[in-house]
Amino acid sequence: MIKHDVVIVGSGLAGMRAALEMCKDLDVAILSKVYPSRSHSGAAQGGIAAALGNSEPDSWEEHLYDTVKGGDFLNDQDAVEEYVKAAPDVIYELEHFGCVFSRTPDGKIAQRSFGGHSKPRACFSADRTGHTILHALHEQLLKHSKSIKIYSEWYMHSLILDGDRCNGVVVSDIRTGAVEVMQARAVIFATGGYGRVFNITSNAFAGTADGVMAAFRAGIPLEDAEFVQYHPSGLYRQGILFSEAARGEGGYLLNGEGDRFMEQYAPARMELAPRDIVARAAQSEMDAGRGVDGKDIIHLDLRHLGEARIMERLPQIRQLGIDFIGVDCVKDPLPIQPTAHYSMGGIPTDKTGHVITDEQGTRVNGFFAAGECACVSVHGANRLGTNSLLDAVVFGELAGRSALAYVNTVGHAKVNESHEKTKVLEQFENIFQQNGSESYNDIRDEMKTVMTENCGVFRDEDRLKVCIDTIQKLRERYERGKVTDKGKVFNSEIYEIIELGNMLGMAEIIATAALARQESRGGHFRTDYPKRDDENFLKHSLTYPKDGELEIKYKPVVITKHQPAERTY
Ligand code: FUM
Repeated sequence: MIKHDVVIVGSGLAGMRAALEMCKDLDVAILSKVYPSRSHSGAAQGGIAAALGNSEPDSWEEHLYDTVKGGDFLNDQDAVEEYVKAAPDVIYELEHFGCVFSRTPDGKIAQRSFGGHSKPRACFSADRTGHTILHALHEQLLKHSKSIKIYSEWYMHSLILDGDRCNGVVVSDIRTGAVEVMQARAVIFATGGYGRVFNITSNAFAGTADGVMAAFRAGIPLEDAEFVQYHPSGLYRQGILFSEAARGEGGYLLNGEGDRFMEQYAPARMELAPRDIVARAAQSEMDAGRGVDGKDIIHLDLRHLGEARIMERLPQIRQLGIDFIGVDCVKDPLPIQPTAHYSMGGIPTDKTGHVITDEQGTRVNGFFAAGECACVSVHGANRLGTNSLLDAVVFGELAGRSALAYVNTVGHAKVNESHEKTKVLEQFENIFQQNGSESYNDIRDEMKTVMTENCGVFRDEDRLKVCIDTIQKLRERYERGKVTDKGKVFNSEIYEIIELGNMLGMAEIIATAALARQESRGGHFRTDYPKRDDENFLKHSLTYPKDGELEIKYKPVVITKHQPAERTY
């Protein structure tokens, strides 16, 4: 049995920041299925929000209001307040960690406009902001390598819970297939989101719901699972992100008739309305046959910005266009479509990072979560761009601090090693022994297609029922799958099969929670219930496992400063 004080699962911004908070006092492990600097946080491009006021006067109060309005008033405002207040210090700390931010001519940290933010608030490193922060934090981790052990390319299978206490995780080394129990006084999940459930997504291959589903299988509900964000500008058919920074820098969105169609949907903010609104506008244009060349294509036009500005501010998206489709945005518009980008929902936590299981805020002792896998909920029904890097760093730090305080009060609890290990070994064995004929690749493709077509930007009862029915049938077929590689060493097939099982479970949860929410709010738009319904649905969903089925309960939203109001842009 492997033993640490704290095990952090996930090595993106939230996981790394949590580790730095504890490493002076504790023996900390970070476990990641990828090499840390390959974590999906590195794909974030456009910026990290903070009301520094370097371009225009700004305040945390305005950041709070923009975030709540952007989230369609489903955000827990007490948590949002702490988070936006923390933002400026977070930026200066990152800078001191070595993060190189782009500057204004007079040497201040530059800030650009982003959707739904009323002030230029995004601090950035060209269009590689996540990458820059990730590497700065990784360097800090390496500095503390005596107290932080990194398990790179290890997979987390399950949580070890004993009653209301978390005592570790069961993991395996992807290189050898060896299953191990990791005993810990506290566990922090920073496992990211689940965009890979969808066909068109900006998410890295690792975004497969492993963490959220491990929590769910242990009996912990998932909060607001129905709210999945579509980012308006993914590369046509591939979903790769073309940062909203392109619009922040002045880029236009054009339909097939060459119109800046956002004028019809959000005349005041145009391309810089919040993402849910821009994604719906783009999808509506395509659905009405006004896509470019009659296809599901919108044009992102940057030509008027000129090569110098594109190279200074948006070099990565220029290169992505050239590398992936041979389009140079200096000369031609980029073909885009909405792409599944971010999960507003996740493992419920309070604002100190403790995982909670119900409306009363009952804690799971020793279990913490931060970043995209967690639902605090600071983003409500729709996250504003650049608020997620901030979320990861702020709540990573808070979860680390809470875990440190908790660990100082408890020792290691007893863990039944062979029992925990056997459950995972049996899962491996079941897959190896399965003598079915179903192709896991087909099942994965069908899941992604049905989710994008029926549980995407627009939803309705009929489509969601088709979705749930299809996913349930796919789950049955999954039990009759055919595995081809039965070896132990670097068997990526077996891990992809396990990930697929997690994604199928998550897909059903998303669609079921979406069916139950008979209103439209933020990223969840029901064409059969096109209005927001505060009377019946100003509440967070909590989806629980119950006797092999799903049970949905609700809990109230925390409203402090801003009563729900009509959302116009
Ligand atoms: O468009 C972007 O650069 C994405 C930023 C974000 O999701 O926060």
